[in-house]
Amino acid sequence: MDILNAPFMESFKRLTSDAFKKGWHERNGGNLTYRVPAEEVESVKESLHPAEQWQPIGNTVPDLAGEYFLVTGSGKYMRNVEIAPEKNVALIEIDAKGENYAIRWGLVDGGRPTSELPTHLAAHELKKKMTNGKNRIIYHAHPTNLIALTFVLPLEDKAFTRELWEMATEDPVIFPEGIGVVPWMVPGGKEIADASVKLMEKYRVVVWSHHGLFVCGDDFDEAFGLMDTVEKAAEICVKVLSMGGKKQTIPRDGFIQLAKDFNIDLNTELLD
Ligand code: 13P
Ligand code: ZN
Repeated sequence: MDILNAPFMESFKRLTSDAFKKGWHERNGGNLTYRVPAEEVESVKESLHPAEQWQPIGNTVPDLAGEYFLVTGSGKYMRNVEIAPEKNVALIEIDAKGENYAIRWGLVDGGRPTSELPTHLAAHELKKKMTNGKNRIIYHAHPTNLIALTFVLPLEDKAFTRELWEMATEDPVIFPEGIGVVPWMVPGGKEIADASVKLMEKYRVVVWSHHGLFVCGDDFDEAFGLMDTVEKAAEICVKVLSMGGKKQTIPRDGFIQLAKDFNIDLNTELLD
């Protein structure tokens, strides 16, 4: 099958266009990567060209050797993925050492994978191991309210988690592990990759201070839903702060009761 007709390409396009309409992707902001299952790679092999040039990833990911990823291009706009995936997206292959990648399809007008590739692949490697191969998506966006909160809330896991859990009763059910916070760092390098992956050992949501949000998911719906839920909590929080702050909230015992009734493993270390 032509890769342009593959169901995974449809899902990739749907996420990028929905997310752009949400306002999370100004210009080239944000990036998306999908670890493509071997049978899906096989189903589109007629569209692939041979690996021409191997380029360094900027990180070492031995547990991803031989894997294929569908990735947004660096400097490419999320809003353009739907209309011209072949110009804005690439299918890349990882070499046998997990040190280099080669483009096997896409970016037909030139370009390279997202500058956040070292972070995405390091997170893929970790989550693949932690979920027995189920996790397939890593996704980064620039959601407005979440970024705004990084100028106001303490840049600590506990403060962010508790504040956002309080903003909607079912939020602790969606991200019971809580939220990790990376202090401000230059994007795209190994330093932010290492800091994010360290937090991804505990969480599925990581805040990049004054920059955006970084999430994972088993599939496109889960990753999009997680981004959407956290950003909606942030939006409520911004509104509450703008109205003069909380006058009442969910009590500590309420979270314990919720965890019991919904049978979730709530990270109570993040409650006071
Ligand atoms: P890319 O265009 O290289 O994906 O970078 C966008 C971005 O949001 C970096 O954090
Ligand atoms: Zn970014």
